[in-house]
Amino acid sequence: MALQIFVCLYVITLIIGVESANEFKVYKELTTSYDKNIRPIHNTSLPTDATVHITYFTILNIDQPAETLRFMTEVVLTWHDEIVKWNRTAFADIDSAIIPASLLWKPDIIVTTSLKTDYMLPEEERFVKVNGDGTVRSETPCIITNQCVLDIQNFPYDIQECNITFESWVYDSSKIDLKIGNHSHDELSSNDRKGNGEWTLLSMEPVVSHYNTVDGRNWVEVTYVVRLKREPIYYTCVLLMPTFLSATICLLGLFVPATNRGERIEKVSMGLATLLSMAVILGIIADEMPKTTTLPLLGTVITYWPN
Ligand SMILES: *[C@@H]1O[C@H](CO)[C@@H](O)[C@H](O)[C@H]1NC(C)=O
Ligand SMILES: *[C@@H]1O[C@H](CO)[C@@H](O)[C@H](O)[C@H]1NC(C)=O
Ligand SMILES: *[C@@H]1O[C@H](CO)[C@@H](O)[C@H](O)[C@H]1NC(C)=O
Ligand SMILES: *[C@@H]1O[C@H](CO)[C@@H](O)[C@H](O)[C@H]1NC(C)=O
Repeated sequence: MALQIFVCLYVITLIIGVESANEFKVYKELTTSYDKNIRPIHNTSLPTDATVHITYFTILNIDQPAETLRFMTEVVLTWHDEIVKWNRTAFADIDSAIIPASLLWKPDIIVTTSLKTDYMLPEEERFVKVNGDGTVRSETPCIITNQCVLDIQNFPYDIQECNITFESWVYDSSKIDLKIGNHSHDELSSNDRKGNGEWTLLSMEPVVSHYNTVDGRNWVEVTYVVRLKREPIYYTCVLLMPTFLSATICLLGLFVPATNRGERIEKVSMGLATLLSMAVILGIIADEMPKTTTLPLLGTVITYWPN
């Protein structure tokens, strides 16, 4: 029995040894005579094909006064590298290899609408998967703070639209041809894309668009249009109900008998208390809202109704 186990282990070690020897060969082959500073293509008048898509998406928060959306996501970039391809038969059928990202050229696709990107992995711990046919795939988990202009007119029953734009910073469309990545590869469950307690994610659609700059260069960008719906329950409890109550009490104040004695003072102090509670509620709204020129309809009603 012991002998069998020994033989078994020996064979396994041997196989693993051969495997890694071949991966090592691939790795050596890839890293000699490769310059990561040059776009890896033989005919430089052709663009490099690249795709971008995001897999999971979780909203962390929306900072309304600052008009930013903060979310956690994974950005998947794939591109075609003509220099790293290898011949499968010559390398014992090795299909793919995982190597440090810093060894290869990488398209400089960034989120141009972001204010800040926090990477969960430090630069030296990022790896890419290289296929024998030259397809390279990198997966970068990160937390992005994205600019998002809010339209608060229908607050608190509003729907917001935010654009998350991916674009290459230096290569125009004649150098990098950016497309939307294939989502069906990383089968998403409905749970992978979600909002938070306050915001429900309605949809998230990628769009490719081209535009020209004045110098005649053409640029390509991939935009994820994120639509979010606010859950109004919190504002209904904290804002609408108390306002309704204090307004009702205010009305009741009219029917308090007006006499020259004690009740008169009661009436004035009730009016003041109602005003005070209104001020507190308004303070809550003011802290939440961006300082734009369009007021929420609710605010307009409250401000102009008495006139
Ligand atoms: C490079 O591609 C362009 C555009 O397709 C083509 O006109 C040109 O002949 C190619 N050059 C070489 C060296 O293959
Ligand atoms: C790959 O390598 C095998 C064996 O070394 C060779 O017969 C074949 O022609 C090569 N294929 C290509 C596309 O270079
Ligand atoms: C978001 O992107 C879409 C598609 O590119 C565009 O039609 C829309 O105007 C953009 N919205 C904003 C707020 O920039
Ligand atoms: C996406 O990938 C799936 C599965 O690999 C494939 O069947 C489908 O044709 C691909 N779609 C596109 C647009 O490449």
